[in-house]
Amino acid sequence: MKYSRIAGTGSQLPDKVVTNHDLEKTIETSDQWIRERTGIRERRVAVDGETTGTLAREACRKALEAADVDPAEIDLFVMGTTTPDLVFPSTACLLQKQLGLPDCGAMDVNAACSGFMYALSVADKYVRCGDAKKVLVCGAETLSRIVNWNKRETAILFGDGAGAVVLEACDDPGILSTHIHANGNYVDLLTTNAGISVGWDAVEENDGKPEIIMRGNEVFKVAVRTLGRIVEETLSANQLEKSDLTWLIPHQANLRIISAMAKMLDMNMDHVVVTVDRHGNTSAASVPLALDEAIRDGRIQRGDLLLLEAFGGGFTWGSALIRY
Ligand code: ACO
Repeated sequence: MKYSRIAGTGSQLPDKVVTNHDLEKTIETSDQWIRERTGIRERRVAVDGETTGTLAREACRKALEAADVDPAEIDLFVMGTTTPDLVFPSTACLLQKQLGLPDCGAMDVNAACSGFMYALSVADKYVRCGDAKKVLVCGAETLSRIVNWNKRETAILFGDGAGAVVLEACDDPGILSTHIHANGNYVDLLTTNAGISVGWDAVEENDGKPEIIMRGNEVFKVAVRTLGRIVEETLSANQLEKSDLTWLIPHQANLRIISAMAKMLDMNMDHVVVTVDRHGNTSAASVPLALDEAIRDGRIQRGDLLLLEAFGGGFTWGSALIRY
């Protein structure tokens, strides 16, 4: 068996909804500006007691159930997150016990918004090389915990959530290819202002908590250019044409970036899965959340050709071409 396939998916969102109108009350912004510039209407925000780990646990349980896979059969657990519950153990390790996984490898991968694409790529390689038969992959975040809710440039963009997939070994693809990249030259455009080892003594704003610092307009331009390149790389690696694709499942950062990608691929928006209007940017959770939604509501059918892509802090970016 030399390929991996998606056996099941799951996702979880916090119950708490924060609408654009809610934000209008605390920062100088408007529902109209947010909808026109980003496509976002509302986002979900974790409440006290809800964490990246609790959201991920439910998403993983649902994915295992959908795949009809016993947790004891899992050979590896890879978790994309940039907002782990603790410094250590990793969120994957914290969940290993709660999910009833065996003492398989369990790790967090930090690639910001591309975290799920990185995690999926690692998982697929383990299956392809024969070291794992069943792998649990999750993307989960509580970015709301590192957003400065007083800054309109970033407060409007982000939300919390989790999405998961179970991969299993099979004779036919499945995942045709995954592609991951990074370029650390753009740190100044998208970063956080503090961290564990650097410390946050110098942080004065945001009640002394670390926060996301982003030059959104510049990030936007690099994102569109870079995603265009990776889409071409992915199709040409498989000698496939744009017209072969059934679905685009993009990272949900901004509807204008998503529309630009659809245009580049000559795809009608009817074949693009969009959740950004209701979820905002959930970072590593955004692609698996969108995937799970479109599988569960029956839009994505077995045999469809799916292109997944994401771009985020680092910069990092990644893609996967999947025969579902
Ligand atoms: N409400 C009202 N006005 C605002 C807001 C707001 N929330 N935010 C900015 N503005 C103002 C600005 O001050 C500016 O005003 P000015 O013209 O008087 O100077 C004007 O609106 C335009 O600002 P821009 O930043 O140029 O707006 P833009 O159209 O670029 O939209 C946005 C900003 C939504 C952030 C967009 O650039 C974007 O989505 N960027 C990409 C984000 C992304 O993909 N990030 C990667 C993943 S995140 C991760 O990895 C953690």
